[in-house]
Amino acid sequence: MSALPKPTPNGAPLPVCPGAASAPLTISIQDLTVRFGEVLAVDRVSLDLAEGEFVSIVGPSGCGKTTILNLLTGLVPLQDGRITMLGKAPFVGNPDVAYMLARDCLLPWRSALDNASYGMEVRGVDARERRARAADLLARVGLKGFQDKYPKHLSQGMRQRCALSS
Ligand SMILES: Nc1ncnc2c1ncn2[C@@H]1O[C@H](COP(=O)(O)OP(=O)(O)OP(=O)(O)O)[C@@H](O)[C@H]1O
Ligand SMILES: [Mg+2]
Repeated sequence: MSALPKPTPNGAPLPVCPGAASAPLTISIQDLTVRFGEVLAVDRVSLDLAEGEFVSIVGPSGCGKTTILNLLTGLVPLQDGRITMLGKAPFVGNPDVAYMLARDCLLPWRSALDNASYGMEVRGVDARERRARAADLLARVGLKGFQDKYPKHLSQGMRQRCALSS
């Protein structure tokens, strides 16, 4: 992906959420460049995001969108350029970052409830509490009644919502 084009075709500023313009920057990307061997995946991209902004990165397949997100989450190490998120460099496991992958990574041998509670299990949350919290999260994404189903019993959209809960 090369440096981002003007935000709108006529150059008008993008609409932002109320208050976003005056909000502090939460994500700052400067001159981000990523190479995978011969492939220049991201070419000097700069982007500043303020609190409350809702931003979509749009571009042709293979232009570097996922690579940028992988850099923001720390899954791919920084090569060239600078990224700060709430003043810190990206790192894996940042509790301020939630990342929804295009393909879910549900564990097929665990029920929807056990998938939704997996992260809490890893963090050592008490079993009763994590079951209650996972059940609440599943209900909030319309999966009440599917807690005991396994991923193979869920539609793709249901799987994505289950992954969102985890
Ligand atoms: N781990 C990797 N190793 C080698 N090349 C990679 C790797 N990840 C991405 N690439 C390459 O970097 C470029 C950008 O890939 P990326 O996945 O960021 O594109 P994308 O914009 O998300 O595409 P899509 O819209 O298809 O999801 C592609 O040419 C891809 O082949
Ligand atoms: Mg992608």
